[in-house]
Amino acid sequence: MAAGCPVLEGFDPLAPEFLADPYAVLAGLPREAPVFYAPSIGYYVITRYADIEQVFRDPGSYSAAAAQVPLVPLVAEAQEILLAGGHRPQPSMVSLDEPAHARLRKPAARAFSVTRIQAMTPSIEATAAALLDAVAGQAEFDLVAALAFPLPANIVFSLMGVPEEDYGQLKRWCGYRAALGWGRPAPGDQVEIATSMAAYRRYLRDLVELRAAQPGDDLTSDLLAIHREDPGRLTREEISSILFSLSFAGHETTTGLIGNTLRRLLEDPARWARVAGQPDLIPAAVEETLRYDPSVPVWRRVTTRPVTIGGVDLPEGAKLFLWLAAGGRDGAVFTDPDTFDLDRRNAGQHLAFGLGLHYCLGANLGRLETRLALEELAQRYPRLRLAGDQEFTFHPNISFRGPQTLRVRP
Ligand code: HEM
Repeated sequence: MAAGCPVLEGFDPLAPEFLADPYAVLAGLPREAPVFYAPSIGYYVITRYADIEQVFRDPGSYSAAAAQVPLVPLVAEAQEILLAGGHRPQPSMVSLDEPAHARLRKPAARAFSVTRIQAMTPSIEATAAALLDAVAGQAEFDLVAALAFPLPANIVFSLMGVPEEDYGQLKRWCGYRAALGWGRPAPGDQVEIATSMAAYRRYLRDLVELRAAQPGDDLTSDLLAIHREDPGRLTREEISSILFSLSFAGHETTTGLIGNTLRRLLEDPARWARVAGQPDLIPAAVEETLRYDPSVPVWRRVTTRPVTIGGVDLPEGAKLFLWLAAGGRDGAVFTDPDTFDLDRRNAGQHLAFGLGLHYCLGANLGRLETRLALEELAQRYPRLRLAGDQEFTFHPNISFRGPQTLRVRP
């Protein structure tokens, strides 16, 4: 532990009261300690916008290697299953530093050009409409199960070129992946999740082989074209690693963003009425949600040398808990930060997609899916409201946050 760094014994981001309302915990923290050590997780917590920005902008001093490391050590059996399934300690691009990171990011980025993302609009609209048709006429339904979960899953699987009949299986394998790296799962659960993860990675390797034999109009086939041009530039194993990154990063993150945006709009009926009457406000609602209640509230880094951050000296190897959601509530950047404000001019300055070399590759896709989902809902249900008597629950992990269910009445 670094000398001179404040220690907050009681801070535990997996405690039930934190999961229920992290912003109440944030409001109660001592202001004079914007950087503190949390023994519950062994991380230094960074809360100020400027300090988080400093970390993201300096990849030489702050390595991404901590991004996916299990928060608690896994039991040996789970580790063996993961290794045997090809899930290495640095499992994918988001936790690699240069030059290994760029080898994967550059080819993957081709799939995320603005034109390519825009071209997905009709299929996202059609998927959202079909999902909502399935619950039409019901007096009450859960928006997460009906729309926020299946929409991003279906879109990312179709982008990858997964045959539609496999979607159900993939969704089952993907459930609660977040627990393994970002939660405190019990040993039995670790083994179960590790088994699903290994099966999923095997599936992705087989998918690469399938698309090599039967190319289609999808990302896997595009990546294989790069491989055929120059196998040394991108191996088949790397293609399956890219697919793993995208399907993981492009799934629960967006479910959470759709859920959080709807929650924040519906909790004030006047807000929903305003947005439904003026749908061109939807992009602003999405940005304000990313600032006020982001679906990836925390990301991680580890220092590669001694550094000073927020006035605190930290040694090499210090693990950092970058509290992106706290950065969104920083009064030095956002006026009246605890108010959800559809008219806020600088909401888009949030840190919800990270910054710099690892800046979220799917930011525009996630925004587009959320906007189109909201447009479809606003058009169908201008008087949508939250069902009474519901307490929101959140999956116990540090980095992926959104209500697990959101019951509404049309
Ligand atoms: C919509 C909600 C989303 C949020 C809040 C989000 C957030 C983030 C964050 C915080 C990072 C880490 C940035 C860093 O280390 O600087 C990241 C990276 C990444 N995201 Fe997203 N993401 C979202 C959606 C998506 C989608 C839809 C995809 C793709 C289909 C995606 C793909 C990625 C990838 C591939 C990376 C790693 C980039 C790299 O390491 O270079 N994300 N995202």
